[in-house]
Amino acid sequence: MLERAGLALMHCMDPERAHGLALSALMTGLAPHPGLVTSPRLRTEIAGLTLPNPIGLAAGFDKNAEALGPLSKSGFGFLEVGAATPRAQPGNPKPRLFRLSEDRAAINRFGFNNDGMQAISARLATRPHTVPVGLNLGANKDSADRAADFATVLSHCGPHIDFATVNVSSPNTEKLRDLQGKEALAALLDGVMQANDALQTPRPIFLKIAPDLSDADLEDVAEVATKARLAGIIATNTTLDRTGLKSRHAGEAGGLSGQPLFARSTRVLAKLSELTQGQLPLIGVGGVASAEQAYAKIKAGASAVQLYTALVYGGLSLVSQIARDLDHLLAQDGHEKIADAIGTDRTPWL
Ligand code: FNR
Repeated sequence: MLERAGLALMHCMDPERAHGLALSALMTGLAPHPGLVTSPRLRTEIAGLTLPNPIGLAAGFDKNAEALGPLSKSGFGFLEVGAATPRAQPGNPKPRLFRLSEDRAAINRFGFNNDGMQAISARLATRPHTVPVGLNLGANKDSADRAADFATVLSHCGPHIDFATVNVSSPNTEKLRDLQGKEALAALLDGVMQANDALQTPRPIFLKIAPDLSDADLEDVAEVATKARLAGIIATNTTLDRTGLKSRHAGEAGGLSGQPLFARSTRVLAKLSELTQGQLPLIGVGGVASAEQAYAKIKAGASAVQLYTALVYGGLSLVSQIARDLDHLLAQDGHEKIADAIGTDRTPWL
């Protein structure tokens, strides 16, 4: 009830202010903390990481790795913080975050506002080790060599994280998405993997892609990712598509997340699962707000899922609810573990 009242209050505020307040509430212990949510059915492995459950926090919620203590106890099975860039940067002018309540969605054009890799690395160094924590790698807007920025952040923060994500799919840094092209991507990943190999303990490296790639683009991405020895692909980031929106903010520039993204991102996930024949671990993100939707992503080919926008509408208590309900859904279908369900129903999405 307290959470419901808090959410109602926050929905009367400017969305970016409300987000700051939610983070502060989390840090002062005012958010739900169910502790570790796990079971033999929910516990799973991806790229050598053991997750207590497959429900993860998507990048962008805790951009500066400030709330890892409370987030580790909030029911998530893994966390991704960032994006972090080599140097701190302010991001785009405000307003840059919009709530699309009628559509259960959000549009953001933050543009990688963050404290920079040094501050973020220092916080990661003192984080709890309850659940795996990854870092979303980004590039500075004014960088002379954007591709090199990803490797720079990984070299600096690598010792303090469990995995890293190469994010070339944010729509809010001009031309960043061009790095998803075949040659550019192969060269960028080569640099990142060299930086990874130079770490004392190399980390699993994921690639996060946009939901707006064509089937031909997805074929290229699958090929390059496999050749580059990536640990997996995170599908997807926010979309530029605006089909079917009702909210008055529908015309705002930026990336759309939440319910309207669910089908589009799940289709990309299923297509990648088909292209890679289930050989490359996939993490499904986009519009997950229920156990049924998390389960649909798993059956479409995901080994784990992530969410962000659903927290704006359902609060943090949603996380443990989804994990527990997912356990029941798996049991109902006779699955003893997540792995038994991965990719069992991708055809409807293709
Ligand atoms: C994001 N997302 C994001 N992704 C990323 O790779 N790096 C980032 O820095 C951010 N920042 C960010 C800020 C805000 C305000 C939002 C809403 C989203 C994208 C996010 O991780 C996720 O891929 C999409 O939001 C889709 O998932 P949901 O929100 O529909 O569950």
